[in-house]
Amino acid sequence: MKALVVFCVVVSCLASAQLVRPDKMRLGVYNPDTKHYEKQTLGQDGHDQQPHRPALLGQDGHDQQPHEQALLGGDGHDQRPHEQALLGGDNHDLRPHGQPLLGQDGHDQRPHGKILGQDGHDQQPHKQKSHKHNKHKARKVLGGDNHDRRAHKKLFGQGNHDYKKHVKVFGGDDHDMGHMGMFKSFMKQHNKSYKNKAEFKKRFKIFHQNMKKVHILQQNERGTAKYGPTKFADLTEREFRKMLGFQPHMKPATSSMEPAVIPEDLEAPVSFDWRKHGVVTPVKNQGMCGSCWAFSTTGNVEGQWAIKHKQLYSLSEQELVDCDATDDGCNGGLPENAYEAIAKLGGLELEDDYPYDGEDEQCHFNRSLAKVTVNGSVELPADEVAMAKWLTQNGPISIGINANALQFYVGGVSHPLKFLCNPESLDHGMLIVGYGVHTTKYLHRKQPFWIVKNSWGDDWGEQGYYRVYRGDGTCGVDQMATSAIVP
Ligand SMILES: *[C@@H]1O[C@H](CO)[C@@H](O)[C@H](O)[C@H]1NC(C)=O
Ligand SMILES: *[C@@H]1O[C@H](CO)[C@@H](O)[C@H](O)[C@H]1NC(C)=O
Ligand SMILES: *[C@@H]1O[C@H](CO)[C@@H](O)[C@H](O)[C@H]1NC(C)=O
Repeated sequence: MKALVVFCVVVSCLASAQLVRPDKMRLGVYNPDTKHYEKQTLGQDGHDQQPHRPALLGQDGHDQQPHEQALLGGDGHDQRPHEQALLGGDNHDLRPHGQPLLGQDGHDQRPHGKILGQDGHDQQPHKQKSHKHNKHKARKVLGGDNHDRRAHKKLFGQGNHDYKKHVKVFGGDDHDMGHMGMFKSFMKQHNKSYKNKAEFKKRFKIFHQNMKKVHILQQNERGTAKYGPTKFADLTEREFRKMLGFQPHMKPATSSMEPAVIPEDLEAPVSFDWRKHGVVTPVKNQGMCGSCWAFSTTGNVEGQWAIKHKQLYSLSEQELVDCDATDDGCNGGLPENAYEAIAKLGGLELEDDYPYDGEDEQCHFNRSLAKVTVNGSVELPADEVAMAKWLTQNGPISIGINANALQFYVGGVSHPLKFLCNPESLDHGMLIVGYGVHTTKYLHRKQPFWIVKNSWGDDWGEQGYYRVYRGDGTCGVDQMATSAIVP
């Protein structure tokens, strides 16, 4: 969200900067009929007030060349409304819809461009009447008190759609009063209860703010992902960050990892999933402890061991939280350090023998209970084609990723814009267990993705998994990809 704020500031500076370009304004606009530069149609007021046409282009040097990065570039580019001809391309709908268009009766009355409408959602403009009567299943609940308190079913894009106020069409009792109805259904769905009214109010306020973030993520989504009120929707960003724990700054100055050997000549299959080969344990839950790095590590070692020794063990993260002195337990760590710690300690115990409790404790590792060990590690290149090849031959890959799209991820192929998910800010450890390609239902767009195991329980995401776009380094998925080597 920080990035968004910065970006907005840049755009407003840009807008005012364009008003003070006296060098250009004094020249005026060339009129091909009179063959003169004409001041009266020029300058501050005339300039850019009407759509650029080819005849106007190129004069005074304006728009003779592509806009410089400094003016528009990066994620700020194309944030201002384009002319018709430019709209509807991939850039269409990149910026959040202006508030006045959304959430009111005007919402979705205009057809969406290409980006939206995947998987059937919003393929055609909603019309007030058909929206109310055709899309909902049971007519008797419509418009009544229960209406919209429950998450919508498939057609409505899961939790995200309809969270804005329907001021006129709906609205009995507390329905949709600034997300209150949605908040109550969220509480019910996730079995939430708050100790008193003050806490309830506080959580509702956070939820309300979070739904704005959901809206920004959804409006800028380039894949098929849905964002909505997940079980983390009542957490502040600070609270949410406690469930991460990937610390790139803990990377040692001299790495002990070797470069992974990529089978370059290999023709990797179109899709691959290690879960189908019995080398991935069920999804675990790190709780409110920044131990993602430990789960990412055990997931990788579990896979390495299972592939090599035909025996799938569920391994102990708590041992790493308590005993890996290079990393910092619930305050975070790195798989790279953890591989080495396992080798030094003399192995990993089983989950059952050294169970997880999500708190920093005294180390009580018992070497005679260690079931697996590690004797090295490899670093994969930031090349997703190479990563896929290596994965099919060697097993699941431990990664660091930017978690910005995760708090509200409901499902689908997540492909956020860079400015919402900086690939250089890795803060969460996860495990790639496979990959595939999704083809969108109507437009048949190809969406290559990674299948990524998370450690937030199986009631998050797609049964505990995240699918993220594969091929352009989305959210830094390729930046710190590693694996243990087991003897
Ligand atoms: C819901 O939460 C309450 C109190 O936190 C708990 O006692 C109950 O078992 C939970 N129910 C379910 C279905 O999780
Ligand atoms: C370590 O585990 C072994 C095997 O279960 C057991 O006999 C021994 O008492 C344990 N040692 C400690 C210090 O707990
Ligand atoms: C790891 O163990 C394997 C099998 O014992 C051995 O071949 C390999 O050389 C070892 N690697 C390191 C770095 O010790």
